[in-house]
Amino acid sequence: LSSLEDNLPLKGKTALVTAGPTYESIDPVRFIGNHSSGKMGYALAIRLKELGAKVTLISGPTALPAPTGIKTINIQSAQQMLEASSSEFVTADIIVMSAAVADYTPVDVAHQKIKKKEEEFSIQLKKTTDILAFLGQHKRPQQTLVGFALETNNELEHAKDKLERKNLDFIVLNSLVDKGAGFGTDTNKVTIVSKTGEIEEFNLKSKVEVANDICELILQHQNKAYS
Ligand code: CTP
Ligand code: CA
Repeated sequence: LSSLEDNLPLKGKTALVTAGPTYESIDPVRFIGNHSSGKMGYALAIRLKELGAKVTLISGPTALPAPTGIKTINIQSAQQMLEASSSEFVTADIIVMSAAVADYTPVDVAHQKIKKKEEEFSIQLKKTTDILAFLGQHKRPQQTLVGFALETNNELEHAKDKLERKNLDFIVLNSLVDKGAGFGTDTNKVTIVSKTGEIEEFNLKSKVEVANDICELILQHQNKAYS
Protein backbone atom coordinates (compact mmCIF):
# COMPACT_ATOMS: atom_id res chain seq x y z
CA LEU A 1 0.00 0.00 0.00
CA SER A 2 1.12 3.52 -0.75
CA SER A 3 1.10 5.95 2.16
CA LEU A 4 -1.79 7.80 0.54
CA GLU A 5 -3.91 4.66 0.52
CA ASP A 6 -2.86 4.00 4.11
CA ASN A 7 -4.40 7.31 5.05
CA LEU A 8 -7.63 6.47 3.25
CA PRO A 9 -8.45 3.08 4.76
CA LEU A 10 -12.16 3.45 3.94
CA LYS A 11 -11.63 4.24 0.26
CA GLY A 12 -14.31 2.43 -1.76
CA LYS A 13 -16.61 2.14 1.26
CA THR A 14 -19.95 3.87 1.66
CA ALA A 15 -21.12 5.23 4.99
CA LEU A 16 -24.50 6.42 6.21
CA VAL A 17 -24.78 8.67 9.26
CA THR A 18 -27.94 10.05 10.88
CA ALA A 19 -27.70 13.15 13.05
CA GLY A 20 -29.69 15.72 14.98
CA PRO A 21 -33.23 15.68 16.34
CA THR A 22 -36.47 14.95 14.56
CA TYR A 23 -39.39 17.37 14.63
CA GLU A 24 -42.88 15.88 14.89
CA SER A 25 -45.55 18.33 13.74
CA ILE A 26 -48.52 19.10 15.95
CA ASP A 27 -50.02 21.79 13.72
CA PRO A 28 -48.63 24.16 11.03
CA VAL A 29 -46.63 26.16 13.59
CA ARG A 30 -45.71 23.70 16.37
CA PHE A 31 -43.77 20.51 16.83
CA ILE A 32 -42.40 18.04 19.39
CA GLY A 33 -38.60 17.97 19.27
CA ASN A 34 -35.52 17.54 21.45
CA HIS A 35 -32.25 19.31 22.26
CA SER A 36 -29.92 17.26 20.04
CA SER A 37 -27.41 19.61 18.38
CA GLY A 38 -26.27 17.16 15.70
CA LYS A 39 -22.59 17.80 16.58
CA MET A 40 -21.75 14.15 17.29
CA GLY A 41 -23.22 12.93 14.00
CA TYR A 42 -21.66 15.68 11.90
CA ALA A 43 -18.25 14.95 13.46
CA LEU A 44 -18.70 11.26 12.60
CA ALA A 45 -19.67 12.03 9.00
CA ILE A 46 -16.64 14.32 8.58
CA ARG A 47 -14.26 11.74 10.10
CA LEU A 48 -15.59 8.92 7.92
CA LYS A 49 -15.05 11.12 4.87
CA GLU A 50 -11.48 11.94 6.01
CA LEU A 51 -10.85 8.19 6.18
CA GLY A 52 -11.88 7.89 2.54
CA ALA A 53 -15.51 6.76 2.72
CA LYS A 54 -18.25 8.10 0.48
CA VAL A 55 -20.60 9.58 3.09
CA THR A 56 -24.33 10.31 3.16
CA LEU A 57 -25.56 12.34 6.13
CA ILE A 58 -29.27 12.28 6.94
CA SER A 59 -29.88 15.22 9.21
CA GLY A 60 -32.75 16.53 11.27
CA PRO A 61 -32.98 20.31 11.81
CA THR A 62 -29.69 21.65 13.22
CA ALA A 63 -27.81 24.96 13.24
CA LEU A 64 -24.74 23.33 11.66
CA PRO A 65 -23.49 24.08 8.13
CA ALA A 66 -23.74 21.20 5.62
CA PRO A 67 -20.28 19.58 5.58
CA THR A 68 -18.47 19.92 2.25
CA GLY A 69 -18.02 16.80 0.16
CA ILE A 70 -20.78 14.96 2.01
CA LYS A 71 -24.18 14.23 0.48
CA THR A 72 -26.54 15.74 3.06
CA ILE A 73 -30.24 14.88 3.09
CA ASN A 74 -32.26 17.20 5.31
CA ILE A 75 -35.38 15.75 6.88
CA GLN A 76 -37.79 16.79 9.63
CA SER A 77 -39.77 13.85 10.98
CA ALA A 78 -38.93 10.34 12.20
CA GLN A 79 -40.97 8.95 9.30
CA GLN A 80 -38.90 10.95 6.78
CA MET A 81 -35.69 9.80 8.48
CA LEU A 82 -36.90 6.19 8.22
CA GLU A 83 -37.62 6.54 4.50
CA ALA A 84 -34.29 8.21 3.68
CA SER A 85 -32.32 5.78 5.87
CA SER A 86 -33.95 2.67 4.41
CA SER A 87 -33.11 3.65 0.86
CA GLU A 88 -29.49 4.69 1.64
CA PHE A 89 -28.96 1.58 3.83
CA VAL A 90 -28.98 -0.78 0.86
CA THR A 91 -25.65 0.47 -0.52
CA ALA A 92 -23.98 1.32 2.83
CA ASP A 93 -21.08 -0.62 4.32
CA ILE A 94 -21.07 1.43 7.51
CA ILE A 95 -24.19 2.77 9.22
CA VAL A 96 -24.00 5.03 12.27
CA MET A 97 -27.31 6.12 13.79
CA SER A 98 -26.53 9.03 16.06
CA ALA A 99 -29.81 10.89 15.55
CA ALA A 100 -32.07 11.55 18.51
CA VAL A 101 -35.21 10.19 16.87
CA ALA A 102 -38.56 11.00 18.49
CA ASP A 103 -40.05 7.88 20.09
CA TYR A 104 -43.60 9.23 19.69
CA THR A 105 -45.39 11.35 17.10
CA PRO A 106 -48.88 12.92 17.13
CA VAL A 107 -51.66 10.62 15.89
CA ASP A 108 -53.23 13.56 14.03
CA VAL A 109 -51.63 16.73 12.70
CA ALA A 110 -54.05 19.69 12.84
CA HIS A 111 -54.39 21.47 9.49
CA GLN A 112 -54.96 24.82 11.20
CA LYS A 113 -53.18 26.36 14.17
CA ILE A 114 -54.72 24.91 17.33
CA LYS A 115 -56.49 27.65 19.32
CA LYS A 116 -56.29 27.74 23.11
CA LYS A 117 -59.58 26.88 24.77
CA GLU A 118 -59.72 24.36 27.61
CA GLU A 119 -57.62 24.65 30.78
CA GLU A 120 -56.14 21.25 30.15
CA PHE A 121 -55.18 19.94 26.78
CA SER A 122 -53.56 16.73 25.64
CA ILE A 123 -52.18 15.38 22.40
CA GLN A 124 -52.47 11.73 21.53
CA LEU A 125 -49.19 10.18 20.43
CA LYS A 126 -48.24 6.95 18.72
CA LYS A 127 -44.89 5.16 18.59
CA THR A 128 -42.55 5.89 15.69
CA THR A 129 -40.74 3.07 13.88
CA ASP A 130 -37.41 2.27 15.54
CA ILE A 131 -35.17 2.97 12.54
CA LEU A 132 -32.10 1.36 14.06
CA ALA A 133 -33.95 -1.84 14.98
CA PHE A 134 -35.48 -1.96 11.51
CA LEU A 135 -32.04 -1.70 9.86
CA GLY A 136 -30.68 -4.29 12.32
CA GLN A 137 -33.30 -6.75 11.07
CA HIS A 138 -32.12 -6.25 7.50
CA LYS A 139 -28.38 -6.05 8.18
CA ARG A 140 -26.00 -8.02 5.95
CA PRO A 141 -22.98 -9.74 7.56
CA GLN A 142 -20.41 -7.34 6.07
CA GLN A 143 -22.24 -4.20 7.13
CA THR A 144 -21.12 -2.45 10.32
CA LEU A 145 -24.09 -1.10 12.28
CA VAL A 146 -23.52 1.34 15.15
CA GLY A 147 -26.20 2.71 17.50
CA PHE A 148 -26.21 5.10 20.42
CA ALA A 149 -27.84 4.94 23.82
CA LEU A 150 -28.58 7.57 26.40
CA GLU A 151 -29.48 6.16 29.80
CA THR A 152 -29.87 7.56 33.29
CA ASN A 153 -29.83 4.30 35.28
CA ASN A 154 -28.42 0.76 34.89
CA GLU A 155 -26.57 2.26 31.92
CA LEU A 156 -24.49 -0.70 30.83
CA GLU A 157 -27.28 -3.22 31.24
CA HIS A 158 -29.68 -1.12 29.15
CA ALA A 159 -27.04 -0.49 26.50
CA LYS A 160 -26.21 -4.20 26.18
CA ASP A 161 -29.90 -4.94 25.90
CA LYS A 162 -30.25 -2.44 23.01
CA LEU A 163 -27.16 -3.88 21.30
CA GLU A 164 -28.71 -7.37 21.35
CA ARG A 165 -32.27 -6.38 20.59
CA LYS A 166 -31.37 -4.17 17.62
CA ASN A 167 -28.70 -6.56 16.22
CA LEU A 168 -25.86 -4.00 16.35
CA ASP A 169 -22.10 -4.41 16.04
CA PHE A 170 -21.43 -1.54 18.48
CA ILE A 171 -23.41 0.60 20.84
CA VAL A 172 -22.07 3.92 22.04
CA LEU A 173 -23.32 4.65 25.54
CA ASN A 174 -23.43 8.34 26.37
CA SER A 175 -22.87 8.94 30.06
CA LEU A 176 -24.49 11.91 31.71
CA VAL A 177 -21.58 13.58 33.45
CA ASP A 178 -22.95 16.65 35.21
CA LYS A 179 -23.10 19.39 32.58
CA GLY A 180 -19.88 18.37 30.77
CA ALA A 181 -21.37 15.90 28.33
CA GLY A 182 -24.25 15.29 25.98
CA PHE A 183 -26.85 17.69 24.60
CA GLY A 184 -25.67 21.24 24.00
CA THR A 185 -22.01 20.61 24.86
CA ASP A 186 -18.93 19.99 22.73
CA THR A 187 -17.87 16.99 24.78
CA ASN A 188 -19.08 13.45 25.44
CA LYS A 189 -18.13 10.68 27.82
CA VAL A 190 -18.81 7.36 26.17
CA THR A 191 -18.48 3.64 26.74
CA ILE A 192 -18.52 1.47 23.63
CA VAL A 193 -19.84 -2.07 23.87
CA SER A 194 -19.24 -4.45 21.00
CA LYS A 195 -21.29 -7.42 19.85
CA THR A 196 -18.37 -9.66 20.74
CA GLY A 197 -18.50 -8.54 24.38
CA GLU A 198 -15.66 -6.00 24.62
CA ILE A 199 -16.41 -2.95 26.73
CA GLU A 200 -14.23 0.12 26.26
CA GLU A 201 -14.67 3.08 28.57
CA PHE A 202 -13.36 6.43 27.31
CA ASN A 203 -12.58 9.66 29.15
CA LEU A 204 -14.56 12.86 28.72
CA LYS A 205 -13.37 14.35 25.42
CA SER A 206 -14.46 16.50 22.49
CA LYS A 207 -17.11 15.12 20.15
CA VAL A 208 -14.53 15.27 17.35
CA GLU A 209 -12.21 13.01 19.39
CA VAL A 210 -15.10 10.70 20.28
CA ALA A 211 -15.88 10.45 16.56
CA ASN A 212 -12.26 9.41 15.93
CA ASP A 213 -12.48 6.70 18.61
CA ILE A 214 -15.73 5.33 17.17
CA CYS A 215 -14.27 5.32 13.64
CA GLU A 216 -11.20 3.44 14.85
CA LEU A 217 -13.44 0.58 16.03
CA ILE A 218 -15.46 0.72 12.80
CA LEU A 219 -12.21 0.40 10.81
CA GLN A 220 -11.15 -2.68 12.78
CA HIS A 221 -14.59 -4.22 12.30
CA GLN A 222 -14.61 -3.56 8.54
CA ASN A 223 -11.13 -5.05 8.22
CA LYS A 224 -12.31 -8.21 10.03
CA ALA A 225 -15.50 -8.42 7.96
CA TYR A 226 -13.42 -8.53 4.77
CA SER A 227 -10.49 -10.64 5.95
N1 CTP B 1 -33.48 5.11 17.35
C1 CTP B 1 -33.99 4.99 16.06
N2 CTP B 1 -35.33 5.16 15.85
C2 CTP B 1 -36.18 5.46 16.86
C3 CTP B 1 -35.66 5.59 18.18
C4 CTP B 1 -34.30 5.40 18.38
O1 CTP B 1 -33.24 4.72 15.13
N3 CTP B 1 -37.47 5.63 16.60
C5 CTP B 1 -32.04 4.87 17.55
C6 CTP B 1 -31.23 6.09 17.95
O2 CTP B 1 -30.72 6.76 16.81
C7 CTP B 1 -30.10 5.47 18.77
C8 CTP B 1 -30.73 4.21 19.35
O3 CTP B 1 -31.90 3.95 18.59
O4 CTP B 1 -29.02 5.06 17.94
C9 CTP B 1 -31.06 4.26 20.81
O5 CTP B 1 -31.88 5.36 21.08
P1 CTP B 1 -32.45 5.52 22.55
O6 CTP B 1 -33.41 6.67 22.58
O7 CTP B 1 -31.31 5.52 23.55
O8 CTP B 1 -33.22 4.13 22.76
P2 CTP B 1 -34.67 3.64 22.50
O9 CTP B 1 -34.56 2.31 21.85
O10 CTP B 1 -35.48 4.68 21.80
O11 CTP B 1 -35.24 3.38 23.96
P3 CTP B 1 -35.59 4.42 25.16
O12 CTP B 1 -35.66 5.82 24.58
O13 CTP B 1 -36.88 3.93 25.70
O14 CTP B 1 -34.43 4.27 26.14
CA1 CA C 1 -35.64 6.88 22.51
